[in-house]
Amino acid sequence: MKESFHLELTSRPRRLRASASRRALVAETTLSPSDFIAPLFVIEGEGEPQPVDAMPGVSRLPIAKLVEECRTLSALGIPAVALFPCLDASLKDDNGTAALEENALILRAVQAVKREVPGLSVITDIALDPYTTHGHDGLLNEAGTDVLNDATVEVLAKMAVLHARAGVDWVAPSDMMDGRVGALRRALDSAGAVNTGILAYSAKFASAFYGPFREAVGSAVPAGRPPLDKRTYQLSPGNRREALREIRLDEQEGADVLMVKPAGPYLDIIRAVRENTDLPVAAYQVSGEYAQIHAAAQRGWLDLKACRDESLLAIKRAGADMILTYFARAAAEELT
Ligand code: PBG
Repeated sequence: MKESFHLELTSRPRRLRASASRRALVAETTLSPSDFIAPLFVIEGEGEPQPVDAMPGVSRLPIAKLVEECRTLSALGIPAVALFPCLDASLKDDNGTAALEENALILRAVQAVKREVPGLSVITDIALDPYTTHGHDGLLNEAGTDVLNDATVEVLAKMAVLHARAGVDWVAPSDMMDGRVGALRRALDSAGAVNTGILAYSAKFASAFYGPFREAVGSAVPAGRPPLDKRTYQLSPGNRREALREIRLDEQEGADVLMVKPAGPYLDIIRAVRENTDLPVAAYQVSGEYAQIHAAAQRGWLDLKACRDESLLAIKRAGADMILTYFARAAAEELT
């Protein structure tokens, strides 16, 4: 093609994209391992890791393997992990009693990681779903039709204190009960845990993208039973104003970091939260977001790494200061 013809243009935005070095200079958003929080699943025993079906590359780890993984993540520059216990079904009951057990798996996991990899920040979920037979995040009313708010918060506050005593850096209430952040803050402070942070799942939507996670922690409903419906506590996917109201409440109640979850389908919410608070904003790229990229890549329909990095970059661009993602290790390995 002849290149003698040219338009009289004052602006040629393409000049900024003409080479890799120019693109690097004008990059507005970049990823770094320090952006990531790695969610990890922990199981009892000394056996082998148990792979999670719909999450290629993700396994439930016994404590010794968990510690090894944490060492690797820390060496890669990842500042934090979020731990989730997967309990044997025999330990679960309707009230999630095992959540308040003094020697609970999650507490031993926290102690082991903090002892062996002290530089790594450890986050634990505060909710009852890994401990209840029904898989809900709290205690059910007598009819079994709804989750009780205040009675659940009372248990969660005790749970947070146990986790703080085990040495966790951040507790992350993921239950969406009203008033839980304030109750946790008061309970932590009364126990002397003034430096234990609260990373609040503030705008947590009733999403279908949590499916593979529920499989991983065993809170999924057995086949034949109606799917777990958390719509009386988690947000409706269409409600942006209500999400902002939740954010404001958690901030007033003393949250240190505000989280939006899921991330990819809720980028507008992340942006809105970013513009409505000066607190750090976290976003959780959930199990289903991870699964869909892997599934399409396995079929040869999408490029795994390119989609992984683009999905993370978009979440950061939307306004997230930190991203919980099952891609943390793989993405960090490539960035370092
Ligand atoms: C439960 C909890 C869930 C996730 C994190 N904490 C699932 C749920 O609310 O049912 C989902 C994370 C993911 O899908 O990766 N309190």
